[in-house]
Amino acid sequence: MTQTLPRSLRKVIVPPVKCQGIKTRLVRFILSNIVWEGKGRWIEPFLGSGVVLFNVQPQRALVCDINPHIIRLYQMIYEGSLSPQEVRAYLMAEGKKLLSKGEAHYYLVRERFNKTGDPLDFIFLNRSCFNGVMRFNSKGEFNVPFCRKPDRFRQAYVSKIVNQISQIQQIMQGKEWEFRVGDWRECFRDVTEADFVYLDPPYIGRHADYYQQWSEQDAIELAKRAQELPCGFALSMWKENKYRLNEHLAHDWDGLIERTFTHFYHVGSRESFRNEMTEALLIKPGYEVPLVELKRPQKPAQMQLPLLFSSIES
Ligand SMILES: C[S@@+](CC[C@H](N)C(=O)[O-])C[C@H]1O[C@@H](n2cnc3c(N)ncnc32)[C@H](O)[C@@H]1O
Repeated sequence: MTQTLPRSLRKVIVPPVKCQGIKTRLVRFILSNIVWEGKGRWIEPFLGSGVVLFNVQPQRALVCDINPHIIRLYQMIYEGSLSPQEVRAYLMAEGKKLLSKGEAHYYLVRERFNKTGDPLDFIFLNRSCFNGVMRFNSKGEFNVPFCRKPDRFRQAYVSKIVNQISQIQQIMQGKEWEFRVGDWRECFRDVTEADFVYLDPPYIGRHADYYQQWSEQDAIELAKRAQELPCGFALSMWKENKYRLNEHLAHDWDGLIERTFTHFYHVGSRESFRNEMTEALLIKPGYEVPLVELKRPQKPAQMQLPLLFSSIES
């Protein structure tokens, strides 16, 4: 069945891969604000973890990311060349080695992954690295240290990951989804009026990661090209915190419908270090849910990954 928007989600589908800027806590807000008839393709040029895609569940999609590891993994699950059973067997075996050898085994897997790009090793690293971040050095090598929990892959945790994979595999079944490794510009080529483009680019000037390089020129070009699209589109971007206002939004994305969502994140464990962040969703006029139709505002979410915003604060 084709999914149309808006959608109110009873339960958010959580993807098996984690990355910076993941929209798990914002996906309800995003999907409840966009109107799309679902006749064309859901186009996501900056796929990341895929949490938005997996919750929209469109019949047809074109998704892309410059990070080949994410796309290859999802492509394999889509094609059925990587099964949840295989992931379970792999994680149980590697988890046992991690438990007996400790961090030396984590670094062995990291080295192996940086030579072969094995998708199973990618899952292992993504789910046992420090703070669950995804970071690659200037040579494109995964370089996040170990989370320091040798018992990371206990049976319950392995089952959780395997269930997340089974769930997205079920969602993908019977769908016409195209996965591409590459630059966002590739997705803008053959867009039609019935499509909808959801944009979630990296933060400007962050440069902390090989696959997250995003200059002011890139941001300006994206804003210009998006506003020329023949179809509906929406953009997610941070708007402000108590230290900074994102001037790029007002400067380059003017004239769109703005919806905002404020959430909190903790720096350290003390309540006094709670910071507020306002996220914007900018929507092409005509594709927004009228304000009167929006139900009660959702509760502010609690952010536990201050790292997500560390570059904004500095
Ligand atoms: C903010 S994240 C997207 C997060 C995603 N919406 C989620 O909820 O998980 C930005 C993504 O854009 C990708 N990316 C960076 N530069 C890109 C480019 N030039 N073309 C396509 N993807 C790019 C990064 O690899 C990253 O996965």
